[in-house]
Amino acid sequence: MKKHVFSGVRPTGRLHLGNYLGAVKNYVALQDEYECVYAVVDLHALTTLEETGKLKDNVCEVLLDLLAAGLDPTRSIIFAQSHVPEVTELFTLLGMVTPLSWLLRVPTFKEKVKMHPHNVNYGLVGYPVLMASDILIYKAEVVPVGEDQLPHLELTREIVRRFNEHFGPTFAEPQAKLTNYPMVVGLDGRDKMSKSLNNHIELAATAEETAKKVMSAVTDPARKLRGDSGHPEVCNVYKLQGHFNNQRSAFIADECREAKIGCVECKRSLAEAINTELAPLRARRTELAAHPENIERILQHGAEQAKIIARSTLTEVKQRMGLV
Ligand code: TRP
Repeated sequence: MKKHVFSGVRPTGRLHLGNYLGAVKNYVALQDEYECVYAVVDLHALTTLEETGKLKDNVCEVLLDLLAAGLDPTRSIIFAQSHVPEVTELFTLLGMVTPLSWLLRVPTFKEKVKMHPHNVNYGLVGYPVLMASDILIYKAEVVPVGEDQLPHLELTREIVRRFNEHFGPTFAEPQAKLTNYPMVVGLDGRDKMSKSLNNHIELAATAEETAKKVMSAVTDPARKLRGDSGHPEVCNVYKLQGHFNNQRSAFIADECREAKIGCVECKRSLAEAINTELAPLRARRTELAAHPENIERILQHGAEQAKIIARSTLTEVKQRMGLV
C-alpha cells in the first residue's frame, strides 16, 4: 500500500512565491509516489482572528492556486478541514495526552503571544494539537512543509510517542519533507516572504505586477553604484535567480561580481523567468476561476473521501483509549 502524505495550507488569501517554492511544489511532485491528502485548514485560520473576515473566499482562492499549480483531485484528496469535523474529535482526544508545557514552549505560539497579547485564546495554544490531529487522522507518514513548521512536526512526533506508549502502537512518527528552498526570503531581503509583511509576489499576479514587485526588491546593500562589484551570495534576488533561472545563474553571478550587469538588468531577467515559469499556472487559474461550481464539487468529493479515512482512524483511537 502506498504511504500517506498530508499537508495543510492556511487560507490566508492568494498564495505567493514563498508558499510555492517552500511547499506547494512538493505537494505536486509527491502525488506521483504517495496517496496524498491536502486540506485548506480553515479551522486553524480561526485561531488568529485577523484572517477570518473573508474565510470562505480565501479557501476558494487558495484552492484555485493549488489546483492551478498542479494538485489533481483525481489523484489526491483535496478538501476543506472543517468539512471533516472528525478531526476535532481527535483533537479533543489528543489533547488528553499532550502536556500543556509542551505547547507553551512552541516558538510560533510564543511569537503570536508577543504580537497579539490580547488575543491569546485556548484554540491558539492548541494549534499544534489540531495540526497533529490533521496529520494523524489521515495516518500520514510524510508531511511536506516549509521550515517554519518543523517545531510543530516535532511536537506531533512527541504526541505520537506518548500516545503509543500509553495506548499501544497506533501511529507512525511522521517525517517532514522540505523542498530545496525551505525558507524563501521576501522582497525586503530580510524577513521570510509573507503576505502580512507585504514583501511577497502572488502566484496569480499579472506579469506586470510581478515585474514591478521584482524591481522593488532589495539587492546586495553594499552595491551602491552600477560600477561596484556585487556579492550574489548575500543577494536575495540572486537566490531567486537560482530557482527560476537555474541554467543561467552561475553566469549571472559572474557578471554581477565583475559589475558587467547592474541590478536592474538582473531583476529584469528574474521577472521574465518568474513570468515564464508561472504563465501556464496563471492561465489554468483563470480557466478554473471561470467555473466556481467545479470548486464546490471538488471540495465536496474530497471531504467524502477524507471522511472514510478519518472515521476509521477515529474508531481505532477510541478503541485504544477504552471509549468503545
Ligand atoms: N500550520 C501550517 C501552516 O501554518 C498549516 C497546517 C495545519 C499544516 N495543519 C497541518 C501543515 C498539517 C502540515 C500538516 O503552514
